[in-house]
Formats: sequence, C-alpha cells, structure tokens
Amino acid sequence: METKILPVDENSLRLAKVIIEHGGVVGMPTETVYGLGANAFDSSAVESIFKIKGRPNDNPLIVHVHAEYDLNLLVSEIPDYARKLAKVYLPGPLTMVYKSKGAVSGAVSCGLDTLAIRIPSHEGAQKFLKYVNLPIAAPSANVSKHVSPTSADHVYADLNGRIELILDGGKCSGGIESTVLDCTGKVPVILRSGLVTREMIAKVAGDCEEYVYREGGKALSPGMKYKHYSPKCRTKLFASNELSKAMEYYGEQIKKGVRAVIMCDSLTAVKVAGNVLDLGCTGAEIAANLYGKLREGEEIADEIIAIEPENQDGVMVGVMNRLKKACAELK
Ligand code: TXA
Ligand code: MG
Repeated sequence: METKILPVDENSLRLAKVIIEHGGVVGMPTETVYGLGANAFDSSAVESIFKIKGRPNDNPLIVHVHAEYDLNLLVSEIPDYARKLAKVYLPGPLTMVYKSKGAVSGAVSCGLDTLAIRIPSHEGAQKFLKYVNLPIAAPSANVSKHVSPTSADHVYADLNGRIELILDGGKCSGGIESTVLDCTGKVPVILRSGLVTREMIAKVAGDCEEYVYREGGKALSPGMKYKHYSPKCRTKLFASNELSKAMEYYGEQIKKGVRAVIMCDSLTAVKVAGNVLDLGCTGAEIAANLYGKLREGEEIADEIIAIEPENQDGVMVGVMNRLKKACAELK
C-alpha cells in the first residue's frame, strides 16, 4: 500500500471520509501530536489501530470530536466543573474522561466504563472531524513505544505502507500529548500531564488533583504503565546541575568513537562545545521541539545525552514526564 501525504483540502477530506467510512484509518494532525484515526463506532476499524501500532490491547484510546458535536450522545454525567473547563480550554489540548454511554465500540476503552473525549483546536483536525461527522478514535500515530509524531513526515517514517493517507497539517504547535483529566469524581484528577497544567485547571475548577502512577500499582490511565516516547538509540539523562558530569561523559563517549549528541535547552547549549540538539528556551518551545529533536537524535547519533532544562514552569511537568520516560534507561 502506498501511503499518501496530502494537505488538508476538499480533495483529501473527501478521500479521508471514504477511508473512514470503509473501516480504514487516517493519519490526522492535531495541535499536540499527530493521531491515527478510525471510526469509533466500528469495532474492526478500532481494532486495526491497535494492530497497525502494535499497541497493547489494554491501553484505551481517546475519541476525537468536532467542536459542535453533541457529547450527550457518547457520555453521561458531565459535572459542572467539567463544563466550566470545557468553556475555557476547549477546543484545545485537554482530554476529559467521563462515564461512557456505551455508544462507541467497546474496543475504544478496552472494556472500561469510561470514555476519553478530546476536541482538538487544530484547524485541519476540526475540518476533518466536521467533514466525517463521526467520533474518531485516535492514539498518537507512532509505532507503539516510539517517539510521538509532530509532523506528517514523522508519521510516514513510522507507518509508511501500513496506512493509506496522512493529512498534512504542518508541524504540531503544542508538541506533547494532551492533558488527560479524569472527570468522573467530585474533583478533577490529572492522569497524564500536558499543556493544560494543574494550575490552569485548578483556577477554573476550584481544585485539581494529580494521580501519580507507581510501578506495580493500579493504573487509572493504563497508558501510564507502559514505556513510551523512546528513541531507537541509547539515551542518558543528567540533572540540570550536572552539566560538567554530562560533558565529561560526552567526552568519554566521543573518545570511544560513539556518535554522541547533547540535547539541552538554549541556555545550556551556549555553554556546550560539541554536537548539540537545542530544545529552545521557554517551556512551550521545549514542548514543541522535544519529540522532533529526539527523532533527529536517533537518526544521527548512537546515544543522546540529555540534560534537564532549568526552566520548570507549569508546562515543564509534562515535558519532564516525557523526557524521563524517553531516557529512563540505556537500551
Ligand atoms: O494529544 C493527544 O492526546 C494525542 C492526539 C492524537 O490527540 N493522543 C494521544 O493518544 O496521546 P494516546 O493513545 O497515545 O494516549 C491516550 C492516553 C493513554 O495514556 C490512555 O491510557 C489514556 O489516554 N486513556 C484513554 N482512554 C482512557 C480512559 N477511558 N480512562 C483513562 N485513561 C484513558
Ligand atoms: Mg501515544
């Protein structure tokens, strides 16, 4: 199968609709990362997402809908705080988990009685979702455990030949996956941190908790127990105050003939002599660049030596979560 990459226009949307209506999957842009979308009502289409990605079948998918879609068709019990949050932050990088009505295929939530809903703000995503006018189940469009894709080329690199179409909506502005927020209790609980931060949620909802998954414990969001975001090369992570240790390590690797590269923020990059992948300055810049730089690194290096950015603003909680998962161990 030849995978086409097409800009989002009338022509590609028509093709995308035909593919979706026939149980196929489509690579779609969002403001966070690219998704691999299928009709959420169609069990065999949803199951094919798991096969294409090699995704464990106990890790549920997020359903994407356009901004005018009636959520009452899919979920029940939308608490007041969730309505307030939706008003302020949607469309945008905030996924909300509700009690499911069981309208979509059971394969979407892997048997859970809840459903994660996301209304992306990306213009191309909204156009696609409106055009098909169906709830679209979509995980990130990478091979399972690899780095998430933030461009159509990244999707192509992972899934060429396995899907018919990638809608090209340019480079994702957000760069890390949406915040996943459990809205089934009295207080919202962050299951996965992202660009909508705990402070932002608490400001509108009055309160916000954060679930911390511990090895072997119960995973409220099953995705948390899996290894994620890993580049194909070796990785090593140093704390922001370990620059000299990192540089010493880098020097040793270079001496051994290892193709090593340093990944760090711009402030650190100016202090470093050698091969550098510069993540940028602000939390938003670092989030937007992280996955692209990890993918660039795995192409050019045997080992990425990452140094934690000094910047620790709200968005960095989500960035550090990904960076730690990507660089957790030598592979
Ligand atoms: O930004 C994003 O969220 C991207 C774009 C494509 O929208 N999607 C994405 O999907 O990151 P994925 O499949 O890579 O991650 C979905 C996360 C997983 O951690 C999964 O366990 C969690 O959402 N999740 C999905 N449904 C859930 C549910 N019913 N209850 C708890 N967690 C859920
Ligand atoms: Mg993913």
